Parts: sequence; C-alpha cells; structure tokens
Amino acid sequence: MNPLVDRFGRIIEYLRLSVTDRCDLRCAYCIPEGFKDFEEPDHWLTFDELERLLGLFAGLGMKRVRLTGGEPLLRRNVVGLCGRIAALPGIDDLSLSSNATQLARMADDLKRAGVTRLNISLDSLRPEIVEKINGRPVLDKVLDGLEAARSVGFAPIKVNMVVMRENADDIDAMVAFCMERGFVLRLIELMPMGDTARRMGYVDLQPVIARLRQRFGLVDTLMHGGGPARYLGTPDGRFTVGFITPISQHFCETCNRVRLTVDGVLHLCLGQEERMDFRVLMRAGASDADLADAIHRAIDLKPERHEFREQPQKLVRFMSMTGG
Ligand code: GTP
Ligand code: 5AD
Ligand code: SF4
Repeated sequence: MNPLVDRFGRIIEYLRLSVTDRCDLRCAYCIPEGFKDFEEPDHWLTFDELERLLGLFAGLGMKRVRLTGGEPLLRRNVVGLCGRIAALPGIDDLSLSSNATQLARMADDLKRAGVTRLNISLDSLRPEIVEKINGRPVLDKVLDGLEAARSVGFAPIKVNMVVMRENADDIDAMVAFCMERGFVLRLIELMPMGDTARRMGYVDLQPVIARLRQRFGLVDTLMHGGGPARYLGTPDGRFTVGFITPISQHFCETCNRVRLTVDGVLHLCLGQEERMDFRVLMRAGASDADLADAIHRAIDLKPERHEFREQPQKLVRFMSMTGG
C-alpha cells in the first residue's frame, strides 16, 4: 500500500483527533475565560462516522491516532470510542493527551480499551500557579490522575509543561518530580494561538536546554515519540526529558500529522488555515471512494510550515479547537 505523502515528501501517518472542544479548565494559553463559542452537538461527528472515516484513513496508511480535545475524557463514552479505534486494522498506536482531572476514575478502563500512551498536562507543582495558569484549583486532582495512570501500568507517561514567564522557575522541581516517578518530562514553548496565549510571557527554551544539559549531565537519546519532541536523558537511562520548540527551532520539515476537529474538519497544519470539511461530505452521502479521494486532495493542501514566529497575530483559532 502506498503511504500518504504530501507535496513536500512528508509521510503523513499520525492523526490527531479532537473528540470535543469543551474543557473543565481554562488554561490561559489555550482557551479564554468566558469563552462560549463551542461547536454545536449536531455538528459533532458520531462514533459511527468517526469509525468509518478513521477506517478509511487507516486503509490509506494512517498508523497512529492520538485523542485530544478540549479535554477528551469529557466526551461521553470516550472509552467505547477508544475500543473501536484500537480495533481498526492498520492503527498500531492509540494515545491520548489529557489534563488528567478525570483520569483517576478512567485510567483503568482506558488501558483496557487499548490506549497505550498518555500525555498529561501539568504546568507547575505549586497550587497557586496551577490555579493562575490553568484557571482552576486542580493540582491535587491532576496528581491523583497521574498516580492512577502509573498504577494501571501506562508507559510511557509524558508530562507536558508549557513554559512561560509564570512557571519558568518551576522547571527544576518538575524535573525532580518526574525523575522520581519515572515520567518523561516535556518542556513546550508557548505558541501564539489566540489572544490569551499571545498575552502570556514567551520563554525561549534553548538556554533552558543548555542549562539542564549541564546541571543533570544530560546526553542525546535515541527516544523518538513519533511527535515533534527532541529528547535528552541521564546517562543511566532512568530519566528522559523532551523539548518541543515550535518557535525557537521549528520541526515542520519532519511533520507527519494532520488534525480532525470534533465537527469533522481536517486541519492540515496547527498554525495555518488549510482545511477540508469531511462532515459536510459524509452527510451529503459521499461514498468511501469519494472520501478516499478527498483525503488525498486534503493531504495535497498541507502547507510547508507554520509562521508563528513571523506572523504571531495571524491565527485566531484557539488551541482548544485543534487540541494542540
Ligand atoms: P507523541 O510524540 O506522540 O507523544 O505526542 P505529541 O508530543 O505530538 O502530543 P501532545 O498532545 O502531547 O503535544 C505536545 C505539544 O506538542 C503540544 O503543545 C502540541 O501543541 C505540540 N505539537 C504537537 N504536534 C505539533 C505539530 O505538528 N506542530 C506544532 N507546532 N506543535 C505540535
Ligand atoms: N502553546 C503550546 N502548547 C499548548 N498546549 C495548549 N495550548 C498551547 C499553546 N498555546 C498544550 C497543552 C497540552 C497539549 C495537548 O497542548 O499543554 O499538553
Ligand atoms: Fe506540521 Fe504545521 Fe506543526 Fe509545522 S506547525 S509541525 S507543519 S502541523
């Protein structure tokens, strides 16, 4: 079978599926407080529609699916959906990015449904900073969720920390926390998606990488998560830290992904507007062959790269819509 290849020779094999644009938190870099413009439920692709569309993607070479949101665990019966996606022939990696507030009660079921990898957002270990950045006092809940994920055996568990002026002083504490518990820490540069994210204080991670290398004797590792992070680790292999640097050193030349939003629109780049509306096609009666053709045409639209640095004001879409 031929893989899906875009105009720049990149093999597209990773689909990020946002199953809801709603969230119980209000992370300042993602969704503004008071935001009301959520997608209407009639527009959400049903599980049957998703299974059909993802089956077609898988038939064309999509191998990995990551569930995102908003907060994916808020979509009713998301565990059932995970089971259906995990069972699709060709999908060999099913993962999920979550804020972990619902994880304590769901970790076990997710594991059983076939989710293999979890990425969890945690920006600080100080309750007041969590409340300030994430908009709700949820530190204890998130820590419980992380512990539940560990106890049911998820591996790896990656902890996503978006680094900003507000939490830059928390990096070493986060390193110690993840080292102790066997989590992979990922430090992420803030992307200017929407007004609120643009108001937060951007921190360039390059000096942080140099400092952590020296402080913890980090060396290059072979770890490759399938995504944009570049990984360093301690020489004994017990601790790994990933860096996601869309601004200071972008990674678009190795991009392997596309994003499907809750309303069935395929976005070809996180930082650009190119898209294809599969909900409209499916609900107008498109055949499987029509949809396969539309998938190829969509991949042809994939732009070369984002312009977060050159044009930070360009994109009005919030991160909660595309799920990161
Ligand atoms: P794995 O490598 O499969 O574990 O996942 P991931 O790191 O791609 O997924 P995750 O949802 O944990 O995202 C971590 C950060 O990377 C978030 O800030 C995402 O917005 C960002 N990210 C993921 N993919 C891309 C991408 O294609 N472009 C850009 N600019 N950022 C991305
Ligand atoms: N910049 C960088 N990362 C972001 N995320 C959400 N919004 C942004 C942003 N503006 C991250 C979250 C989550 C992941 C899916 O995306 O921290 O871990
Ligand atoms: Fe791919 Fe766009 Fe992300 Fe660059 S910004 S890595 S092209 S999705």
